[in-house]
Amino acid sequence: MDREKAILVGIELQKDKGSIEASMVELALLAKTAGAQITGSITQNKAKPDLKYFIGTGKLEELIQIVKQTGANLVIFDNDLHPSQERNLEEVLGIKVINRTELILDIFAQHAHSHEGRLQVELAQNQFMMTRLSGKGTLLSRLGGGIGTRGPGETKLEQDKRKLRYRISLLKEDIEKIRRSRVTKRSARISSGIKNLSLIGYTNAGKSTLLNVLTKSNVLAQDKLFATLDTTTRKLYISADKSVLISDTVGFIQKLPHQLIDAFKATLEEVTDSDILLHVVDASSPDMEKQMDAVYGVLEEIGAISKPIITVFNKMDLVKGTIPKDISERYKPYVEISARDKNGLDKLKNCIETFL
Ligand code: GTP
Repeated sequence: MDREKAILVGIELQKDKGSIEASMVELALLAKTAGAQITGSITQNKAKPDLKYFIGTGKLEELIQIVKQTGANLVIFDNDLHPSQERNLEEVLGIKVINRTELILDIFAQHAHSHEGRLQVELAQNQFMMTRLSGKGTLLSRLGGGIGTRGPGETKLEQDKRKLRYRISLLKEDIEKIRRSRVTKRSARISSGIKNLSLIGYTNAGKSTLLNVLTKSNVLAQDKLFATLDTTTRKLYISADKSVLISDTVGFIQKLPHQLIDAFKATLEEVTDSDILLHVVDASSPDMEKQMDAVYGVLEEIGAISKPIITVFNKMDLVKGTIPKDISERYKPYVEISARDKNGLDKLKNCIETFL
């Protein structure tokens, strides 16, 4: 399929003042990860959303023009539009309109390869669809295929609410079975006395790369958001006679949809049950602290915020000098590394050993 041409739209409402820029940068990355080519971007400040179209009529005119000029076939909103607003926009624009949550679900759908990953994505998609059903119990029929319509749940999307509810309960049962088998494995690990570490961090921070260089394994590392959806656990020797288990997990972002956090509980429990969290940070990102806040937000949501955390400032090869003291002091204990150049890895291992 040809790459979809997408226009991004972000409306900054009074209540979330000051957050639109970073959010739009992230939206663009997400859209590229989903495979879209971005042909335009519109932002607007607005006290409150327009009931019919979410955006104001002036901006709607502008959007119609950009669609015409660029031949775009997809509009992606950073905001959560009401299904009727999406439908109204699709009617005037004649192309598909989706929101951030649908975009993220699409990326997850494309990246879910394991049985567990696919079940979790399908659950998230179905739970999202439940929130989008019209009162009469029929689903909106949407324009075209492509981004926003892919994934394990796709064939289920035309089913009615009752079937959807039934499917959701089956998926939950299957996921619960997997969760229980994980719990058994974990308790075996805990009783063996071996400590567990989880790599957490904003998507694309370098978690998989770090896991690879630390354990000399071959986990998929890509310059794309959410390359990892499945947890990989490896043994790591922190000294000649001491080893720990270290797991990579799904990347975090701002506004990670609730359906996903809920559906990925089984995977995220790995984090909640860890002895130590290694928070991998892309130190070269201009949005570093915003990304760190996004990670803390997710940790809060999954009940893991009080875990011991070592901050791992990664990609230091792209940074001039060191992390400014006023920042690093706030995230103690911390180490500065480059997973790519294998710099600082011994310091990291020492830090883990001291911590344990
Ligand atoms: P998700 O699975 O998307 O959450 O990403 P991740 O955190 O596992 O990141 P991953 O290891 O896939 O790395 C993302 C990109 O950053 C890849 O292109 C890596 O090659 C690159 N990268 C990782 N570590 C470093 C580093 O120390 N320096 C530089 N320059 N690039 C790095």
